[in-house]
Amino acid sequence: MSASPSPSPTLPRVVVLATGGTIAGSSGDPASSAQYQAATVPVSQLVQAVPALADVARIEAEQVAQVDSKDMTFGLWQTLAARVAYWCAQPDVAGIVITHGTDTLEETAMFLHLTQPCPVPVVITAAMRPATSLSADGPLNLLDAVRVAASADARGKGVLVVLNQQIHAGRDVTKAHTSAVDAFVSPATGPLGYVQDAYIRFTRTPARRGIELLPVPSAWPAVEIVVSHAQPGRVAVDALVSAGVKGMVVAATGNGSVHETLAAALADAAGAGVAVVRSSRTGAGHVSIPSRLAPRAGAFVSAGDLNPWKARVLLLLALAADPGLGVDAGRLQALFAAS
Ligand code: SIN
Repeated sequence: MSASPSPSPTLPRVVVLATGGTIAGSSGDPASSAQYQAATVPVSQLVQAVPALADVARIEAEQVAQVDSKDMTFGLWQTLAARVAYWCAQPDVAGIVITHGTDTLEETAMFLHLTQPCPVPVVITAAMRPATSLSADGPLNLLDAVRVAASADARGKGVLVVLNQQIHAGRDVTKAHTSAVDAFVSPATGPLGYVQDAYIRFTRTPARRGIELLPVPSAWPAVEIVVSHAQPGRVAVDALVSAGVKGMVVAATGNGSVHETLAAALADAAGAGVAVVRSSRTGAGHVSIPSRLAPRAGAFVSAGDLNPWKARVLLLLALAADPGLGVDAGRLQALFAAS
């Protein structure tokens, strides 16, 4: 579907792949930014609502899905990856924009970062306020995302996330506020740059572009997240092992420390062939290698600066590509250190 008011044929061609989210949300009450239905406005309307897009790019809009991103599925990731790969292979496409819900945006960004070798920019955007809201942030975010996708400066920088006039690396970005329009931050690194009208400025280059890409799985291993906190039980870990889970990420306290009860359960899980990765629940910082756990749990892999849900995406893809990694903590640690 083509949906823009007569753009110049000399402008770059940018494809907008829509998946839903609050950027496509609507409410009967424009004064409310919290009471609304996500994923209701079609992408054609989102594009038409921003006439300035016609000065930036020739837009091709495709409705890939219409979901609240809390309900993201592996199936939709596969579909999205296939659409990204298709458009990346078209020689006249300058860039791709994905509109997405904010709630799991960082997981989709991590998935695409790890799987897509696209030579042109892939830029994910979203909104904290629905399309019908007073001061909706979606229209400017969409315009800025298209500006970045059409920019030669954005090439070779991997999957990018553009919101609130900031450009973030898809690997590093996380949602850190329930409702503010500046909800997205990159705790370990800060943003890559910013957008101010037509002016796009990258202030640094993403550090993690040298990774070997992982394939999009056709079958996904069971990988779950458990949390360390005061007085945990071991029932969840034991139940997951009994259910046949292949990997677990522990959202650990502080610098990767795990309550002794949970650590013992996880050590038993690792002994049963389950890959165990330690991330931190603090929201920022790097989990040290080697493990600070008791010696019997010393084989646990550090997620580095990846938060638990990003670490889970990497563990999912790694175990799908090579189930043997589950019993080879050294190789798995090397993969986490490089990704
Ligand atoms: C969603 O993640 O789809 C809903 C919330 C949002 O986009 O802000």
